[in-house]
This record gives sequence, structure tokens and C-alpha cells, in this order.
Amino acid sequence: MALIGKDIAYAKQVLDSGELVAIPTETVYGLAGNALDAKAVASIFETKNRPSFDPLIIHVASVTAVEQYVSTFPEKLKALADKFWPGPLTLLLSRKEMVPDLVTSGLPRVAVRVPDHSLTRSLLSELDYPLAAPSANPFGYISPTQPAHVQLQLGDKIPYILDGGACKVGLESTIVGMEGEDVVIYRLGGLEVSEIEQVVGSVKIQDHSSSNPQSPGLLESHYAPRKPFLLGNLQELISRCRYEQRDFAVLSFDQEFQELPKERQIALSPTGDLREAAANLFAAMRKLDQSDAAVILAEKMPAKGLGLAINDRLKRAAAQG
Ligand code: TXA
Ligand code: MG
Repeated sequence: MALIGKDIAYAKQVLDSGELVAIPTETVYGLAGNALDAKAVASIFETKNRPSFDPLIIHVASVTAVEQYVSTFPEKLKALADKFWPGPLTLLLSRKEMVPDLVTSGLPRVAVRVPDHSLTRSLLSELDYPLAAPSANPFGYISPTQPAHVQLQLGDKIPYILDGGACKVGLESTIVGMEGEDVVIYRLGGLEVSEIEQVVGSVKIQDHSSSNPQSPGLLESHYAPRKPFLLGNLQELISRCRYEQRDFAVLSFDQEFQELPKERQIALSPTGDLREAAANLFAAMRKLDQSDAAVILAEKMPAKGLGLAINDRLKRAAAQG
């Protein structure tokens, strides 16, 4: 079992010694190590069981700290950083030599962000290196949004979990880079497309799949529960399961089903608020995955705002196997 607490000095001591600490962010919990120490970075991959072709995001305390690690900062991306950092935005920027190859999987760009969480920002401001941190889940599983999620899955492999409570955004950061003059979104996430477009004008959304060489880690089957996960019209899926006599649990946007037991259904936001739905998504998927139902049935969210990023995660959860 890992220790869980709010002790920044202890977290620093663990990280300084080359070991890993789970850190809270506004998006999801990260599994953090010294990004400039190749050994610590290697142990992140090992602990998560993550293939080394899947690069890591480095986390820094401020926009100015980023400049140490990148060689250029295109104007449009700088405008996004100024507006949205700290926050759920990751930028792909050309890296300096000092960033280990293992962090970027040998790619020319490094992914960087300034997370919006007071504990983690205090920690970062006391370190003299950035933190490489993927989401703190075993590779391929649902990202953790609470310390208990981390404890359950990685608690026997790491010494410390910095307890920052439940993550307020609940979806991973939006990943943005440039191709020529175009701003490209490589992963939909906690910062909405429309918020980005207000600053830089229209953007391209790159459909990420395992064949995308820009972001090899954005594999199709990801964020996946262990149980079969079916995405579609809930009434139809429910009828089909009844006909097939399969035990099911239901994940809806805002609907509650009178005829189903309470423990077999979760409405992500009974009031129909997409931000609330995003914040509840991963914990709800975990809960239903741990229920005794045989299959999870889910519906898409309205395709606007954070609904786009939630639908992306739901599609990937349904793309197992
Ligand atoms: O919100 C988040 O982004 C969380 C918190 C902990 O910051 N982190 C996170 O990390 O979601 P991870 O490793 O689970 O996902 C990062 C994604 C990977 O799928 C990877 O492919 C992409 O970012 N990525 C990282 N570095 C890259 C690079 N240099 N070029 C292209 N894609 C990169
Ligand atoms: Mg992840």
C-alpha cells in the first residue's frame, strides 16, 4: 500500500531520490517522476506497463519554466498558453536536447503543460526539474480521478500518493500542436474546442487512431473497462440485453430508469450539465465495471462542448479487443 497524504516536502524527497509519486491535477491523477532522470522515467513505463513508444507529458510550474525545455514557442501556441495555463491544455513544442528521448519516444516534440492544482503547483515550484506524468492507471485502463483509484491499482508499486481530492475537470488535457500554420488538436480533452478557437481561430481536429504517427500513444482501445462496454441507444441496448438474458448496468447522460435498480445505473448529470458529466465520467465507469453486471450499456452525450471529449472516451471504451 502507498502512503496517502498532503505532505509536499515528503513528495519532494521521494521524487528527489528517483522514485515515483502520484500527483493530483485538475484533469486526472498523474504518475510522476523526474523528467530529466532517464531511470525515473523508465520506472514510470514499467510501473504502468506502458509501451515505450507512447511518449509522456512533462508538467511544469509556469509558462516561463517551459522555455528551459523547448527550442521554439510558436505565437499561436504561446497565446493559448497565456490564456489557459494553468489548465487542461497540453502543447506539443519542439524540444531541447536535455529532454530525455524516453520522454518523447524519440519524437521531435515534447508535450508540456502547467496543471491547475494548488498542491501540485506548490510541489513543482520546489523542484528543480519538471515532472513526467502519464495518467496514473495501468496502461489501457480508465484514468484515475480520485486517490483511492490510484491506491487500488498502483498502490503496491509506488511509495506515495499526494492527496488532492477528486479531480475537478475529470477528463485528460486537450493536446494541441502546429502543422505548418495550422493549429491541430491531437486529443480532445478538458479544454473545449470552442475555447481554443476563440483565441486562434479555426483548428483541425486530427482523428487519432493507432495508425497516427504523430501521437502513437493515442490508441483506439483505451480508457477501457474490463467488462464489455456497448455504446448506443439505451432503450434498444436494454431490450437486447433482456432478450439475451444478459445482466447489464446503465451509464446515461441525464436519464434515470425507474424500472432498474439504483446500483445498476448512473446518470452522469441528472440536470444535463456536461461539465458535471465530465467530472463524474471515469469514477462512474469504474463503479459499473466493479458491479456484478455482465455488460455496461452507455449512451453518447450531446455533441457540443465537453460532450465531444466525453464521446471520444466512450467510443474508445467501446472499442476494446
Ligand atoms: O491531463 C493529462 O494530460 C494527464 C495529466 C496527468 O496531466 N496526463 C495524461 O497523460 O493523460 P497520458 O500519458 O495518459 O496521455 C498523454 C498522451 C499520450 O497518449 C501520448 O501519445 C501523447 O499524450 N503525447 C505525449 N507526448 C507526445 C509527443 N511528444 N508527441 C505526440 N504525442 C504525445
Ligand atoms: Mg492515459
